[in-house]
Amino acid sequence: MEGVDEKTLVQQLADLPLGEIHFFNELPSTNRTAMEWITQHPLEYSLFVADHQTAGYGRNQRSWFASAGASLSFSLILYPTRQELQALPLFSALAAVAVCTALETCFSTEKAQIKWPNDVLLDEKKCAGILCESRWQGSINEGLVMGIGINIRSAAVPPATDLLFPATCLEDALGVSVDSWKFLHVILEQLLHYRGFFPSSTFLQTWQNRLAFRGQVVTLTSNDGQQQGIMQGVDEQGFLVIKEKSGRLHHFSLGDVSLRPV
Ligand code: ATP
Ligand code: BTN
Repeated sequence: MEGVDEKTLVQQLADLPLGEIHFFNELPSTNRTAMEWITQHPLEYSLFVADHQTAGYGRNQRSWFASAGASLSFSLILYPTRQELQALPLFSALAAVAVCTALETCFSTEKAQIKWPNDVLLDEKKCAGILCESRWQGSINEGLVMGIGINIRSAAVPPATDLLFPATCLEDALGVSVDSWKFLHVILEQLLHYRGFFPSSTFLQTWQNRLAFRGQVVTLTSNDGQQQGIMQGVDEQGFLVIKEKSGRLHHFSLGDVSLRPV
């Protein structure tokens, strides 16, 4: 990212009600570092940002590729309320909505979409990945880390041969020059805004309105195999609803399910 140190970052984000702000030139993973901090109970919305991640990860420890000066990689610590704990998997949808609406706000674009549940797409290619992880002591939730990785410039985009789904970056897809810090500021603003009515039906509607492939035939792959159908949207729990050829509706929870257009 462009000319950054912790002091500048703190100044740039000073008007937001964040907790501690930590910036690293290089880290294995901001999620890993934030997960270690959770139990020290820093203030809510403590933020960990790295210019370069050497071992970023997604679900099931799959690698997330980042490049110094070209990727925006950060993790935020949240302490979910009792009500939010009932909808814990939806935090990744909250992050996706924040990134998507930040793209709309900053770049006046309508082409940002969310591949259910949480990949942010531009031109049907992934430009941002999200991973929320919780720390538990028995059945007590000690906090949640919301990790977001965004491809800002083309150097952030991995070679196609390394990818399960096509990828792009903001600058290529939108044809603009992006100030990563200003963009980070807007994402955090959006996140704070939408958390104000999370996890209400209004929030679910905001998410659903931005889902990619609605009305199209999609394939869902899980441990139980593959299923095809027309994507309907999400139900009141955020489960994905697919209509089979027979007309039967299937609801998929936010577990390890992969969605692909056909
Ligand atoms: P699925 O689409 O199957 O649900 P996912 O999109 O949620 O999976 P993860 O399981 O979280 O992805 O794993 C990360 C995946 O993201 C990697 O397997 C790799 O294909 C892809 N990837 C890694 N780095 C980048 C990047 N910088 N930009 C876009 N995609 C990336
Ligand atoms: C995905 O592929 O969909 C999830 C990728 C999540 C990547 C971000 S980058 C910041 C944070 N640190 C990590 O190691 N992972 C997340």
